[in-house]
Amino acid sequence: MNLGPSLILCLLLAPAVFGQPTYSKEVSRIIQEKCQTCHRPNDVAPFALLTYDDAANWAPDIERVVTSRLMPPWKPADDHGKFKGYRGLSDEQRQTLIDWVQAGAPEGDPADLPEPLDLTSQWALGQPDVELQMAESYTPPRGKDMYRCFVLPTGLTQNQFISAIDVQPGRRSVVHHVILYLDSTGDAEKLDAADDGPGYTCFGGPGTGLSAGNGNLSSLNLSSLLEIGANLGGWAPGQRPEKLPDGTAMYLDQKARIVMQVHYYSTRQSGDDQTKVGLYFSQAPVERRLIWMPVVPLDRRGRLSMQIPAGAKGFDVKAEFSIPPISLFDLTAVAVYPHMHLLGTAIKLEVERPRESPEQMIAIDNWDFNWQGPYQYNEPVKVPAGSKVRLTCTYDNSVDNPRNPAVSPRDITWGEGTEDEMCLALVGITFDRENLLPLNQLSAGRLKK
Ligand code: HEC
Repeated sequence: MNLGPSLILCLLLAPAVFGQPTYSKEVSRIIQEKCQTCHRPNDVAPFALLTYDDAANWAPDIERVVTSRLMPPWKPADDHGKFKGYRGLSDEQRQTLIDWVQAGAPEGDPADLPEPLDLTSQWALGQPDVELQMAESYTPPRGKDMYRCFVLPTGLTQNQFISAIDVQPGRRSVVHHVILYLDSTGDAEKLDAADDGPGYTCFGGPGTGLSAGNGNLSSLNLSSLLEIGANLGGWAPGQRPEKLPDGTAMYLDQKARIVMQVHYYSTRQSGDDQTKVGLYFSQAPVERRLIWMPVVPLDRRGRLSMQIPAGAKGFDVKAEFSIPPISLFDLTAVAVYPHMHLLGTAIKLEVERPRESPEQMIAIDNWDFNWQGPYQYNEPVKVPAGSKVRLTCTYDNSVDNPRNPAVSPRDITWGEGTEDEMCLALVGITFDRENLLPLNQLSAGRLKK
């Protein structure tokens, strides 16, 4: 075979291909991969980026938002843990978009365009094992943020292991984030009954029993701590559902109700919403349970406690969770879910293992309550017995914080309300020594009989 002429052709084409990207060839592919999950009709982004004309119209803004890293929205800082579903641009992708805009946004040859994406909203992981839906549709108020909790009985007839959840907003243009809490107390139904219309208003949590941290919690023991962490994770726009690694799953008691918090964000559009939740049961045998371990600020008597003085800026609240130095407590972190409210500006979690220097587990430098959710590690993080997990939450409780919900700043303490705060990291851990496989095999054997 004679490679000569094709090699020369490649060299001749090289400057055209690498020096000046075109929409049809490079840019459309980046936009499909990194922008269209949100920039499609009737989704969370305010405009679609589906065609050359769309992209060309927005070209200067595209250059600005990718240079400033405002887009695509991806909160965790790059060098503090690597997570599944990474949405950010690679340096090369970012540079290609910038070069394209600076070259005058050339279209190139439409014959080079990739196949358009299938934009019909399907469950990304296939049909869920259980689909739950709000009992009736809800119409959020127009032009105002609304955080609303809906109680979803699961209808399960046996306890289940869950390996993934997904959410399908009924009306994508108004649904911002969704969090799935678990309630085993029955309180959520009472709250629902006491509030007019479908669901009930809630903010930093489901308002049920212990999880509220609402004063009826005098001292925290292990079970009340785990109650705070009782959730199945959450969803924010543009997020792809991720299955937990084989052998790891979340436990769902058949009697628990799922309390789905939906944040309807302020838009001029309105209309009713009936959001759906999909649950995926673990297909592989489950070896270890994922437990959401809460790292929260406690006072000396073990009570939830934090205070942010009125007007304070760059104010840190710190929390620490010490893992007992007993080998039973060798843990592995599979996921992490940081949580603060509207005064939060930055949040950072690190693990200090015995005799080692601290390792960053996650850092978010520009916290935004509306882009919160769980992050699953690419490589699980070891948290051996004797480690300390340290959380630092930074707040701006001054009038300069445009998100400050208070008319005039006041001292802020822990609570679930819009004007209360939280400093919380739920660390999705498994116990290295746990092995449920023999139990699974027993029950499987029983079923076969
Ligand atoms: C996870 C969802 C999501 C993804 C992915 C996403 N965007 Fe956005 N984009 C938004 C939302 C929502 C807004 C509206 C402003 C806001 O809420 O931050 C927006 C706004 C914008 C704006 C206008 C911003 C301004 O300041 O005027 C541009 C330009 C933009 N996006 C470009 C992009 C590009 C280019 C990509 C891909 C590289 C992208 N976006 C990926 C959700 C997304």
